[in-house]
Amino acid sequence: MTNVLFVCLGNVCRSPMAEVIFKKLVAEQGLTNQIKVRSAATSDEEQGNHPQPGTIKTLTKHHLAWQNLHATQITTADFEWADYIITMDHQNMIDLKRMAPADCIDKIHLCLDIFPDQKGTPIPDPWYTHKFDYTYDVLAKAMPAWLAYIKQHSLTQ
Ligand code: 4NP
Repeated sequence: MTNVLFVCLGNVCRSPMAEVIFKKLVAEQGLTNQIKVRSAATSDEEQGNHPQPGTIKTLTKHHLAWQNLHATQITTADFEWADYIITMDHQNMIDLKRMAPADCIDKIHLCLDIFPDQKGTPIPDPWYTHKFDYTYDVLAKAMPAWLAYIKQHSLTQ
């Protein structure tokens, strides 16, 4: 089993979007028994809450369900559970590296680092930009690339 955890600040915008997009790809490729997908926050600001209304609107437009999503703050157990911790911006990286057990730091990746020509590029927070559709479009391009990478590096097929 390979476990993938998407993380952002609040777990109500970027990481839940990434979770449902990635989960759909995993299901479409018949990999649900091999790859588990969750998302979490670095903060406890939105603990227990559904995604932001803007996130819900965008997911609904793309026929993706949001009803089972509830924000949760990352725990030590989550760091240990995950094989890949994929995060959205530099502050997320700083926070996660501070919170992570030492042997989990190498699991943390910036989402757009999957593209060699976008290394170091953050995914801006739609909480502030209000660009939920743009966020979706960026994630919808990055998720297939991450799945291909994970299949190549972690799955034995
Ligand atoms: P996210 O957006 O990190 O993409 O989920 C945010 C959600 C909540 C807050 C900030 C960003 N907040 O300050 O509560």
